[in-house]
Amino acid sequence: PATSDLYKRRPRPEYIPNRIPDPDYVRIFDTTLRDGEQSPGATLTSSEKLEIARNLAKLGVDIIEAGFPIASPDDFNAVKQIADVVGNEVYEDGYVPVIAGLSRANQKDIARAWDAVKGAVRPRIHTFIATSEIHMKSKLNKSPDEVVEIAVNAVKYAKELGCNDIEFSPEDAGRSDPQFLYRILAEVIKAGATTLNIPDTTGWNMPWEFGELIKMLRENVEGGDNVIFSTHCQNDLGLATANSLAGALNGARQLECTINGIGERAGNASLEEVVMSLALKGNEKFKGGPGSGKLYTAINPVYIMPTSKMVAEYTGMKCQPHKAIVGANAFQHESGIHQDGMIKDKSTYEIMTPESIGLMRGESQSGAGIVLGKHSGRNAVGTRLRELGYDLDMDRLNAVFDRFKEVAEKKKGGLDDDDLESLVADQSGSSN
Ligand code: KIV
Repeated sequence: PATSDLYKRRPRPEYIPNRIPDPDYVRIFDTTLRDGEQSPGATLTSSEKLEIARNLAKLGVDIIEAGFPIASPDDFNAVKQIADVVGNEVYEDGYVPVIAGLSRANQKDIARAWDAVKGAVRPRIHTFIATSEIHMKSKLNKSPDEVVEIAVNAVKYAKELGCNDIEFSPEDAGRSDPQFLYRILAEVIKAGATTLNIPDTTGWNMPWEFGELIKMLRENVEGGDNVIFSTHCQNDLGLATANSLAGALNGARQLECTINGIGERAGNASLEEVVMSLALKGNEKFKGGPGSGKLYTAINPVYIMPTSKMVAEYTGMKCQPHKAIVGANAFQHESGIHQDGMIKDKSTYEIMTPESIGLMRGESQSGAGIVLGKHSGRNAVGTRLRELGYDLDMDRLNAVFDRFKEVAEKKKGGLDDDDLESLVADQSGSSN
């Protein structure tokens, strides 16, 4: 598909692991193939993962987290294949995507992750350890001092292996003591981390709290000016997109997300929601953080819909019809008042065009995404009949419309063109 002219895309700045030459640029880190695949039941084959990775690269994603290589030989092979293939392909604007592999903070995991990603032009190791009191005590059984030491050693080891693009995540940062985060993050920066990802692992934070956390970390972590701060927001309270945007507003310049928002439990921040929010509103609301103007990404929105469909099909996780941006109803209009507005001017009820996200509007219903159902008005029914070639006078249209209302009351899913034509035929028969 062609790039939508609604969104004047700006060139992607040069890729430097710990710095972005343009402070308004926001990197998109897609973790559909890692966190997304952790959705219960969403298992993908290696070839499906490769195809999805290619689509993510076409979409313009900066960093593709391809999997968790230590998890299984299949995971390792899939990450390696993506690194060797997609991680060596040149995409739009000459960009070769970064390929990341996840690892816990131990040498075995890190070595395995490095073996999987090192064939990419831009390999990244993403290592993590939990920092909240509950996780350190109940899950890791480690003291805070031990956790700092493990984190530092992990980052140093990744660097020793030859990786110069190292992401560190303090898992459950959203429930961690900020003072402890200042300490551990300063230490991992000294050890060589280039991106600090701040996960709200349990989706516990409100947008204002998460925004404040990112701001405090940027202000208080020693060495924080020399790294990229990132968000990773789970959706347990339905706030993952809002929290990610609050992070960007407060200076995060990498946002982690997944296609269709899939992921552990209630999922992750949805790429399409985050990206379209920035594309549509970045100018008005997102002047915070280190930049001075409009925040932007390199995502080409016309690839959103094809990628969303592919992910839904391969994972078997269909979107709910009312899912923002990519749900089946996202550009459908049912009530008579809305349909009348849409026929007159589509921007009465649509804040973006379906074409801009790669959804071609059907030829039918004036291309206005109109569902002819029990809430539809005379104007919508008349318009569709005219498109079908029926030039009815007002009395006949009224008679067809009355009958339409009776049928639509009982028919789930609305009336299609055949149904409409039958109504006209019945009405003609009865008036002869
Ligand atoms: O949710 C989480 O904390 C994670 C980290 C590994 C980034 O997935």
